[in-house]
Amino acid sequence: MITKSQEKRNLGFGQIYLAVNQSSGVDEELSPNTLYLTLKTSRSFCVLMEESSRPSSANSNDSFNISEFLVPARDLKLPGQSSVTFDGLLKEPLLLKEDLKEGCGGQLWPAGMVLAKYMLRRHHSDLSDKTIVELGAGGGLVGLAVARGCHVGPSPLYITDQIPMVSLMEANIKLNNLSSTVKAAVLDWGDPIPADIPRHPAIILAADCVYFEPAFPLLVTTLKELLGPDSVCYFCFKKRRRADLRFMKLAKKAFSITEISDDPDAETYKRENISLYSIRAKQDNTGLRND
Ligand SMILES: C[S@@+](CC[C@H](N)C(=O)[O-])C[C@H]1O[C@@H](n2cnc3c(N)ncnc32)[C@H](O)[C@@H]1O
Repeated sequence: MITKSQEKRNLGFGQIYLAVNQSSGVDEELSPNTLYLTLKTSRSFCVLMEESSRPSSANSNDSFNISEFLVPARDLKLPGQSSVTFDGLLKEPLLLKEDLKEGCGGQLWPAGMVLAKYMLRRHHSDLSDKTIVELGAGGGLVGLAVARGCHVGPSPLYITDQIPMVSLMEANIKLNNLSSTVKAAVLDWGDPIPADIPRHPAIILAADCVYFEPAFPLLVTTLKELLGPDSVCYFCFKKRRRADLRFMKLAKKAFSITEISDDPDAETYKRENISLYSIRAKQDNTGLRND
């Protein structure tokens, strides 16, 4: 939705298209400054994701009514390495290289931490013989945690993302000596599922994949293709903007969705607007899929 005045700028992270609507109400569901952004590189999304949780008092500048939050990357994380035990749930810590140069998946995100902890606690022992695919894995936080701390295999666990994230996923697999258990693969939402990815995996993992509205229908398409009658997707996301709820609206039409109720951390992360769901294919009462 591009309205009234439009400005195309290069803010150092690729081209960011700003459409500024100075009349109120046209896109009231977006930022408080009635500002609509289409960010053309995934690294730019990080600016939006990180900053959208900030108070809106960092106010607008000059002629475009552009909030200060668009100043690029002054506080984006520098490349580095984290060591994570998920509050002691892993005996041997997971090591994760973080590097935002190829996209926002290059750092750890809060919903990924929540989902990984949930899987380690509640699915520690029931994943063996199950095919597992992670979507939008970034550096592989969730999939690698599951591979390290849960009983998995013998089929490989696939951590997937767009092409630019593959080298980081591969580096993290190697760093944790998980090459015999975990494979990195490209799975771009909305594209046909590549032949090497299991058609209807038993378990799909997706954390912090809701943040860019044009990608919502693509993610729904991919979930529709992947979810077989016996598949379950554990889906965790942090609501940053009201627009993020549109994903849930779309998803509720397409799938059976249940909020996870057996996570002892739930009260804590709900306060941070993080939600955890299980998503299944809709089935009619004959047990057949209902596409
Ligand atoms: C916020 S990051 C979350 C990374 C990781 N799941 C975590 O929780 O730390 C979102 C991830 O979704 C991936 N992504 C975005 N659009 C995608 C698409 N169309 N197809 C596949 N992956 C996509 C990004 O590359 C990024 O790695």
